[in-house]
Amino acid sequence: MEMLQEYRYRFAQYWRSSIVFRIVSLLVLFAISALLIVLPVRSQQPVVLTFLMNAPEVPNLRPLIAEFEKENPGIKLNMIEGPNASNLIEDLNTSAFLLGSAPYDLVNMDVTWVAKFAAAGWLRDLSNEVSQEQLNEFLPGDIEASRYQGKLYRVPWRTDTAMLFYRKDLLDQAGLQPPNTFDELMQASQKIQGQDKAQWGFVWQGRQYEGVAAMFVDVLSSNGGFWVNPQNGEVGLDRPEAIQALQFLRNTIDKGISPTGVSTYQEEEARLLFQSGNTVFMRNWPYAWALLNKDESPVKGKVGIKPVVYTPGNQSSACLGGWGWGIASTTQHPVEARKALDFFTSARVQKQTTLQSGYLPSRKALYNDPEILAKYDFFPIALKALEDPGLRPPIAQYAQASDILQRYLSAAISRRLSPEEALQAAARETRSLLGA
Ligand code: GLC
Repeated sequence: MEMLQEYRYRFAQYWRSSIVFRIVSLLVLFAISALLIVLPVRSQQPVVLTFLMNAPEVPNLRPLIAEFEKENPGIKLNMIEGPNASNLIEDLNTSAFLLGSAPYDLVNMDVTWVAKFAAAGWLRDLSNEVSQEQLNEFLPGDIEASRYQGKLYRVPWRTDTAMLFYRKDLLDQAGLQPPNTFDELMQASQKIQGQDKAQWGFVWQGRQYEGVAAMFVDVLSSNGGFWVNPQNGEVGLDRPEAIQALQFLRNTIDKGISPTGVSTYQEEEARLLFQSGNTVFMRNWPYAWALLNKDESPVKGKVGIKPVVYTPGNQSSACLGGWGWGIASTTQHPVEARKALDFFTSARVQKQTTLQSGYLPSRKALYNDPEILAKYDFFPIALKALEDPGLRPPIAQYAQASDILQRYLSAAISRRLSPEEALQAAARETRSLLGA
């Protein structure tokens, strides 16, 4: 007590006698007050959640991000625009996670990444966070594809199935029905091209990237073949069904039905060529529908959409695609990340996204939504196609398996190897990958 009085006395003395002391004391007081104000404000700064997004989806996400941030003032979403190919975005995520301290809190994941990312331990196990009742609201194929070894690592945001787009007007003028089989597609193309009503018959994705593997899966499964059997690791790429499937694709180029340029096409190149009006058929994902029917599109109102073609004795079986959200196991903000995941995968946001961009929702109820059906009357056909999809193998080595297939498909499509040579080599490499 005495000491305290002593200090007060001395302080008062210095205060009266020294102007320097007065200034220094005031400065110290000011600094302490500033700290007291700044610290709490700093700790109230929003949590920032970072994720990568493939370029074409960025504009669709912007309004959703604004809406989420408005509803969750404590959270900011930092969307990083990545390249436009599933495998390239996957590579970026992979290198970040391999470095150990990935900057990503959320992962917007293609259906093909789940096994690899889960096996590597990069994702939080969501099994106990989402109830069975909640999962029942999604398409079963999407949930199945979001699991690895029985655990859930992703909540579906949008599903995807490849479809055949066709020009109703050109087929009508030629007195033809939309084709069901590969042969019918070839014949219809040649007839319409022969009448100079269209320059090209069929456009598809032949560039060396994930899309060519997905495209090949349509043709392969609709010809009764398979890539890798996930149950026993058997590789089906050098079986006759696979070689015929690739031969079919090669024939479309060799016979002038498809431009040689398909060997460089991704989804958007195919869509733009088809949209310009001089092509009869296109293989693509349903996102293309809304764009083909925009006011300024030369093919607005002229396009039909149906399941992909198959060979006699088989049935249409299109590649299952689709995207969903996972949470990085390294995130410092699992609670906030969960809020964002719930937001993006909610019925409200899926409906909004579908109405705005034409993506197929992954929630079952939205396929009965009158507003959605009024805008996209082909959704019931897409839903049917999702019942029996062709699958890319859900294995942890998927990225490497796909890389092998992409390389050899590309070699055959650009006429560097015959379909048989290409697929024999692809099968050999895939076997050694899976055996390793
Ligand atoms: C679509 C599909 C995705 C697929 C990709 C290939 O985005 O949804 O699953 O891997 O196309 O380009």
